[in-house]
Amino acid sequence: MKKEKLIRKYDKQVKMYENNRKNQKLAGLRNKIIKKAYGKVLEVGVGAGANFPYYDRNNVEVTGVDFSFEMIKNAKRAASIFQVKAKFIQEDIDELILEDNSFDCIVSTLSLCSYPEPILTLNRFNSWCREDGIILLMEHGLSSNPILSVTQKMIDPLYTKISGCHCNRNINKIIEKSNLQVDQIERYWSDIIYLVQARPTK
Ligand SMILES: C[S@@+](CC[C@H](N)C(=O)[O-])C[C@H]1O[C@@H](n2cnc3c(N)ncnc32)[C@H](O)[C@@H]1O
Repeated sequence: MKKEKLIRKYDKQVKMYENNRKNQKLAGLRNKIIKKAYGKVLEVGVGAGANFPYYDRNNVEVTGVDFSFEMIKNAKRAASIFQVKAKFIQEDIDELILEDNSFDCIVSTLSLCSYPEPILTLNRFNSWCREDGIILLMEHGLSSNPILSVTQKMIDPLYTKISGCHCNRNINKIIEKSNLQVDQIERYWSDIIYLVQARPTK
């Protein structure tokens, strides 16, 4: 899908992602991963700021990146509501230029499904994260349940057309092929949701 079309699609979905902030099903998982964030945090695909309620606001300075203007607008509002110190960059993650080793923590939630080259994107996280930093992911991907995974593979073209992202990505394999070193992976909801704590290799 062309980038401009994808951005328009996400611009239009902003209300749904704003409501996601109140999604109780995901709240516990977001809290579990986001409470580990500290220091200078880069949150990629920040969306409407669904993670802002869960940051330890006394311990983080967030830089939120998203290529959708509408998402950034809502994320700014969320940062203000939850009193998280944050600044924002409206940019495509694949075109973003940041200094190497400039963040203590990189956060991505439900975003890896959107990037055209997710392994390369993870490798960019690897470069931006300090050697002693952490990378925190909450992603959705292929289930370990055979019936669900076959269904996910079957519906992916339609799913992508509607939502802009993929539902059939094998997150374990993507991370394995990247430069990240995994410390912990937990899986939920028939293994569709992956909570990952990783660190960079330098
Ligand atoms: C599925 S939403 C997830 C939003 C949020 N992280 C959450 O947990 O609710 C994916 C977000 O990534 C953004 N996004 C997708 N591809 C992107 C890219 N290449 N560069 C920057 N942002 C991107 C979209 O605009 C959208 O806000």
